[in-house]
Amino acid sequence: MKFLNVITSLAAVATARCTPVKHLRTTNLYGVEVVDTDLVRDARAVIANFDGFLYKHSMRTWLFGAAALNANKTLKGLVDLELHAVSTILHDLGWDMTPNSPWVSTTYRFETDGALGAVKFVKGHKDAKNWDEYRLQKLHDGIALHGSPGLSVGKNQDVQTILQSIGFDNPGARPAPVPEKEYNSIIKALPNDDIVHGTNITWTWLAATKPEATYNTIVEPWGNAYVPGYNSTGHRVFDLLNGNFQ
Ligand SMILES: *[C@@H]1O[C@H](CO)[C@@H](O)[C@H](O)[C@H]1NC(C)=O
Ligand SMILES: *[C@@H]1O[C@H](CO)[C@@H](O)[C@H](O)[C@H]1NC(C)=O
Ligand SMILES: *[C@@H]1O[C@H](CO)[C@@H](O)[C@H](O)[C@H]1NC(C)=O
Repeated sequence: MKFLNVITSLAAVATARCTPVKHLRTTNLYGVEVVDTDLVRDARAVIANFDGFLYKHSMRTWLFGAAALNANKTLKGLVDLELHAVSTILHDLGWDMTPNSPWVSTTYRFETDGALGAVKFVKGHKDAKNWDEYRLQKLHDGIALHGSPGLSVGKNQDVQTILQSIGFDNPGARPAPVPEKEYNSIIKALPNDDIVHGTNITWTWLAATKPEATYNTIVEPWGNAYVPGYNSTGHRVFDLLNGNFQ
């Protein structure tokens, strides 16, 4: 018995030594173990008062991603979990329709507002000393690239995992990497029945309030379809190449 105990504790030490990331405080949220550092708590506070659909969407991307990582220890060991948490939680700062939102510019596309906002948030935090330039760049990339499908290929593992996690909340069936039990408990706590409507009104609002930031982006069709007076023809790269740029 004693011998077995020794073996067990040696195994525990070996496991700890092999773990590439240092131990972070964790908590359990809707059945999912997640990182719970001061920075992550404060990132959650940033989105706490957002529109309900946006808060839930942001939280689901983090939790789906965390559940998928918990189910694959190899992948989990390769990913910066605090970076993953902050990036997913803050990825849609650019969707905040609150009047005079500090996160939404009059000129940049929403992914850029999210990336700039998240980096600004981390740089202004008391724990910013833990973030070198490379870590901040990964935060920026993981958010800036999320509105243009296909750009994650070949990026570093952190950015790929952030983008994949954000994609986990796209409409449709449960993504295979997210285990069924955790998926169901996340959806039960944070229902996604309002995400399509919320995205629709947000993207229509973006096209109406800053059309220049929507041409040639994923939002452009919302302007053409739903915003009176919006017409992307003349503003696209296609028009530039055909001599019809306005
Ligand atoms: C876990 O992640 C590793 C690293 O990305 C990958 O090679 C492996 O296929 C994954 N395992 C499963 C079961 O998805
Ligand atoms: C999106 O909004 C437009 C304009 O308000 C509306 O006509 C359309 O049905 C909405 N689409 C969805 C999928 O909610
Ligand atoms: C959009 O603008 C183009 C070029 O100015 C014009 O040819 C086209 O008819 C317009 N489309 C709509 C729906 O107004």
